Amino acid sequence: MIHPGAMLGVLGGGQLARLFALAAHRLGYRVAILDPDPHAPASGVADLHVCAALNDAAAWQTMAEHCAAVTIETENVPAAALEHIAQRIPVAPDARALHVAQDRAREKSFLADHGVDVVPHRVLHDAADIDANAADIAKLLPGVLKTSRDGYDGKGQAAVNSLPELRAALSRLGTPSVLEKRVNLRDECSVILARAANGAIAVHPVPLNRHVDGILDLSVVPAPISADLHDRAVRTATRIAEALDYRGVLCVEFFITMDERLLVNEIAPRPHNSGHFTIDACHASQFDQQVRVLAGLPLGDAGLSRPGQAVAMANLLGDVWDDGEPDWTAALGHPNLRLHLYGKRGARPGRKMGHMTLAAESADQAIDLATSIRRMLRRQRQPAVVTTQNAAGAAREEALPISMSA
Ligand SMILES: Nc1ncnc2c1ncn2[C@@H]1O[C@H](COP(=O)(O)OP(=O)(O)O)[C@@H](O)[C@H]1O
Ligand SMILES: [Mg+2]
Repeated sequence: MIHPGAMLGVLGGGQLARLFALAAHRLGYRVAILDPDPHAPASGVADLHVCAALNDAAAWQTMAEHCAAVTIETENVPAAALEHIAQRIPVAPDARALHVAQDRAREKSFLADHGVDVVPHRVLHDAADIDANAADIAKLLPGVLKTSRDGYDGKGQAAVNSLPELRAALSRLGTPSVLEKRVNLRDECSVILARAANGAIAVHPVPLNRHVDGILDLSVVPAPISADLHDRAVRTATRIAEALDYRGVLCVEFFITMDERLLVNEIAPRPHNSGHFTIDACHASQFDQQVRVLAGLPLGDAGLSRPGQAVAMANLLGDVWDDGEPDWTAALGHPNLRLHLYGKRGARPGRKMGHMTLAAESADQAIDLATSIRRMLRRQRQPAVVTTQNAAGAAREEALPISMSA
């Protein structure tokens, strides 16, 4: 066991590292991050920021020297980094799990080898593969072409409806890429679990996830799915964690087909956006669990702290800033709202800037509340303007806050 006071390291310094750091600090640990961006979201909360590229071997060594154990917040880290650091201190997850999860083609064959259903697909190694297998490939159309590595939030993907579109997309995205059949989705859900070194597993409540333009938009728990689907998803995720002899927090993303089949879309060897509801809704959040596994502490209780309540998590993308600074005053007036902002500079469309969670009596209510508050954040402000005098006598314009019932 690594005692509180020690330094825990994260490879990557995005919002997942920031949320990890906040959880680690609560337990008295210090946190080091490795990230090339001096303004990385986690930089403001980390105790040590090693400002270097994720593939910088000297920086891996610095992390190994300063930390008692190291984890990751993105799969776009060379597996060699974990291998290198593991020679000196514990790492979770290990290099093998990262190696599998960071490459879509490898991940899919690992899952299929372990009897897990995945989306019908084919790996394309070069453009000639298309012509050589045109008949088989045509069966996967309409499809989604995805780069094998480094994609996230729908980036590195293209919808393709014909062989000419596929050829164009492949030359744009590069090889190797994976062509997946476009699945007619009824729903999507994910299982977020933590597995400790002794094999103990704690599974968080399963969220139902809604994506817009390939980016997670909203998650809600408990997922309004049948008990049978729920159990199959949890069993499958557990099986994957065991097959990887996984240590750490693992997310398994599922597609639910119209005929209630479960297909694994992808796995993430780290906490996941669809598990952010756990921060406000569970006894131990996915980040608490990441800290506990890394430090060798017992797993926390992954269950809802208020069973019977539904909780929705809505992402706040840069688009919410389109009309200027969002109207936080109105949103924060809602007693059930928990707002999380990642301290990012520069709101760009599609960029994850923060999220909020809303508790309600039913899943539908939680979703309605979350989406209506989010709409209110970005609606045209200054509906009414009053002019007041400040102490210096200068005129100052103030927009009246929009009331919740408006
Ligand atoms: N083969 C597919 N069929 C239908 N929808 C898909 C398919 N692949 C991706 N999507 C949609 O795009 C989202 C993001 O795709 P995903 O492969 O998970 O990429 P990322 O790594 O960016 O999360 C999915 O959650 C789903 O909503
Ligand atoms: Mg995904």
